[in-house]
Amino acid sequence: MDRAARLAGPLAQCLPLTVPILSAPMAGIAGGALAAAVSRGGGLGLVGGGYGDRAWLERELAIAGDARVGVGFITWALAQSPDLLAVALDHRPAAILLSFGDVAPFAAAIARAGVPLIVQVQTVADARLAAAEGAAVIVAQGGEAGGHGGTRGTMALVPEVVDAVGAIPVVAAGGIADGRGIAAAFMLGASGALCGTAFYAADESLAHAAGRAALLAATGDHTVKGRVFDIARRRAWPADWTIRTLRNRFFDRWVDDPDGLKRQIDAAPDTIEAAARHGDTAVAPVIVGEAAGLIADTGAAATIVARLWADTTSRMAEVAGLD
Ligand SMILES: Cc1cc2nc3c(=O)[nH]c(=O)nc-3n(C[C@H](O)[C@H](O)[C@H](O)COP(=O)(O)O)c2cc1C
Repeated sequence: MDRAARLAGPLAQCLPLTVPILSAPMAGIAGGALAAAVSRGGGLGLVGGGYGDRAWLERELAIAGDARVGVGFITWALAQSPDLLAVALDHRPAAILLSFGDVAPFAAAIARAGVPLIVQVQTVADARLAAAEGAAVIVAQGGEAGGHGGTRGTMALVPEVVDAVGAIPVVAAGGIADGRGIAAAFMLGASGALCGTAFYAADESLAHAAGRAALLAATGDHTVKGRVFDIARRRAWPADWTIRTLRNRFFDRWVDDPDGLKRQIDAAPDTIEAAARHGDTAVAPVIVGEAAGLIADTGAAATIVARLWADTTSRMAEVAGLD
């Protein structure tokens, strides 16, 4: 077995992949085409089940066709539409990923279906809970990540989670978008990486062209974390998690005035959705993480997977040569 196949080993034992790279279940961005392209490229693509739109999920799973994709859910939102788990399981997914909430109500049904459960966590305490619920894989997500996350950074969280969960393979997430980051994830004890921002501008993503352009123009300095866009989109996110996006005019206008923002949104509830439809990135959030500064071009998702993995293995070989 070559070195690259050995590195993929722990994840390949429970997930149908040859490259230990997962694409994130990005709500509204990661549909069936993106997830299928990542899986066909050797990684594991995850469809973003998001906030629970059944028709959207059924359509995107149909688009994924016979590719071996997984499905990710926002756990607290799934608790409000629990029937969606059966929709996903009926598609015989390669895995179910749950993030942001209590997985206990869903773990037994996923296990009965014989589907591996991946749990994405932001704290060591939640990693221990995920292990107790029978997670096959645990994603340790640092707050550098695009989208929602906690406050811990990837660098210290990943090895701490690795130490806490024994033999369960851990995948690192948050701020990883090139071979340097994935090689670092292995050094931290992880068995692979889950990337969102790296696939945001992929050809198969559902991101608006204006959002892709904003990502390509940004550096990591341009991201912020807060509640502005959750208030504006009327998403009832629990206090543990805030959303990282590019900083824009709308964020700056409202960051210090959440009560004023609520009044404004009551008067014009469609503000963010309309801006998103029109690609108005001064108002709508471009949901990417600190890795924004590492994304220099776009391309097919399978090419991104291949590029990331070639970069990872050559970086690791380079370091291994320094004995
Ligand atoms: C546009 C976008 C949407 C996201 N939506 C979700 C989601 O619906 N569910 C989820 O578990 N994680 C979501 N995430 C977080 C990812 O699962 C992952 O942790 C993150 O992308 C990793 O950090 P990175 O963006 O630096 O690669 C999202 C991330 C992005 C960039």
